[in-house]
Amino acid sequence: MSQIQYQKSKEWLDRASKVLASGVSSEFRKYNHPHALFYTHGQGVNVYDVDGNEYLDFTLSQGPLILGHSNREVLDAVHTYSEQGQLFAGQHRQEVELAELLNEIIPSAEMMRFCLDGSESVHTAIRVARSKTGKTKFLRFEGHYHGWLDNVSWGISTPSAEALGDRLHPNVYAWSQGLPEISKEEFIIIPWNDLELVKKTLAENHQDLAAIITEPMMCNSGCIPPKEGFLEGLRNLCDQYGIALIFDEVITGFRLGLAGAQGYFKVTPDMSIFAKAIGSGYPISAIVGKKEWMEEIVTARVIHAGTMNACNPTVAAALATVRILKRDNPYPRMFELGEKLRTGLRKQAAEAGVNLLVQGLGPVIHTGFIDQAEVSDFREVQGYDKGKLKQFIAGLHDAGLRVIGRGLWYISAAHTEEHIDQALRISEKIFQNMTQKTE
Ligand SMILES: Cc1ncc(COP(=O)(O)O)c(C=O)c1O
Repeated sequence: MSQIQYQKSKEWLDRASKVLASGVSSEFRKYNHPHALFYTHGQGVNVYDVDGNEYLDFTLSQGPLILGHSNREVLDAVHTYSEQGQLFAGQHRQEVELAELLNEIIPSAEMMRFCLDGSESVHTAIRVARSKTGKTKFLRFEGHYHGWLDNVSWGISTPSAEALGDRLHPNVYAWSQGLPEISKEEFIIIPWNDLELVKKTLAENHQDLAAIITEPMMCNSGCIPPKEGFLEGLRNLCDQYGIALIFDEVITGFRLGLAGAQGYFKVTPDMSIFAKAIGSGYPISAIVGKKEWMEEIVTARVIHAGTMNACNPTVAAALATVRILKRDNPYPRMFELGEKLRTGLRKQAAEAGVNLLVQGLGPVIHTGFIDQAEVSDFREVQGYDKGKLKQFIAGLHDAGLRVIGRGLWYISAAHTEEHIDQALRISEKIFQNMTQKTE
C-alpha cells in the first residue's frame, strides 16, 4: 500500500537493544507494528515517530491520554507546580485538593491513597481486603489484567480455549516464567460474566475469600461489558459473605464517565483502583475505598508506602486532568464518537464481506475477526482470528492510524467527528484490501 518507512526506528531499536532489554521498558511496547517504534512528539490526536511519520492516535498511549497528547493546561500545571518543588517527603496541599475532588465525584472514594501505577494500587487493595477479613484468597476472572505482579500474572494467557478446561475449576496458565508456584494458591479464577458460577464458587470457598476483583468492563481481552445484573450480583454476594468487592477501574476510570464504571453501572464497590486516565501520562494511581475498608490503612494495620507517591508533577497533572474533565464534560461527545466509529466500522466490514466483530462501550472500541455476533468471555475471545487482526492493524498503521495491537481503540476528548471520518476513510480501504487478499 503506502511507502511508509520505519528505518530510523529500526536503527534506534538495534541501538536500544544493546542496553535496554529487548529495546523497550515495558513488554507491551514490543508488539507495535512492525516493531517497537521511537516517537519524537505528540500533539492533540497525533503522534510522530523518528522517521517523520504522523499517526492519528487511538491508542492514547494505552489509555492515559484522555485529553489527547500534550494538553496545554496539564503541561502548564505540571510546570508551575514542579517549579515549586518536586517531592517533599511530606504532604502538600494539592494532594488534598485532588483527594477532595475524587471524593466528590467517585462513589466509592470516601478515602484514598495515591500510588505510582495500577499494579501497586491493586496490590494495596488486596492487602487491605486480607487485613480486614482475616482471609487470604481472592476471586478473579479469566482474561482480566490487574498488572504484572506475581499473584495476578496468571490466567491472562492460555494455549487455547479448550486448554482452560472445566469452568468451575479451570486450568490456570502462567503469563511469565519466574512466578512462584505458591502465588497461584493466592486466588481462585473462573470465567467472567457468569453469576451462577460465582455463586457456586462462593458457596464452596467463601470462608477463604477476602475479595473479588474484577474489571467492571473487561477491556483487556476483547472489550466486553458486564451482563445485566452481573455487577449487582457480585455486590450482593460480597455483602452476603463479608467479602471486599474491588473494581479495577484502571481502564474504565475517567473513561466511561467522571465517576468511572461504578458511576455508569451504578454499582458501588468497597474499593477501586484508578490509574491511566487520571494522570494524562504522568505516573499516578489511586486506591480509593469506603472508610470501613480504608480504616485498615488509617490504623496502620496495613502498611502502604512509596518514596515517589504523590510527587508534585503527578498530582498537578491529575488535578488538572480531572478538573478539565469535570469542567468540560466531554463524555456525551466521546460516547457519540464511539458509537459513530463502531457503526461505521461494522457497515464497512459488512460491505466488504469481512467477519469483523465490533464491541465496546462509549469511547472504548474493540475490533476482532470472528464468525460470531457476540463474544462474552475470555474463552470465546480465543476464537478471534489473530492473523487477520494483525493484518488489519498493520494496514491501518501503514496508512497512519494507530490502534492498540489487540484491536482496542480509545477515543479522547481531543478527537472530533472529523477524526472519526478520517479513521473511517482509512479503515474502508483496509477492509477492501483484506477482501482482495483472501479472494
Ligand atoms: C485493568 C488494569 N488493571 C491494572 C493495570 C496495571 O496498571 P499499570 O500498568 O499502571 O501498573 C492495567 C494496565 O494496563 C489494567 O488495564
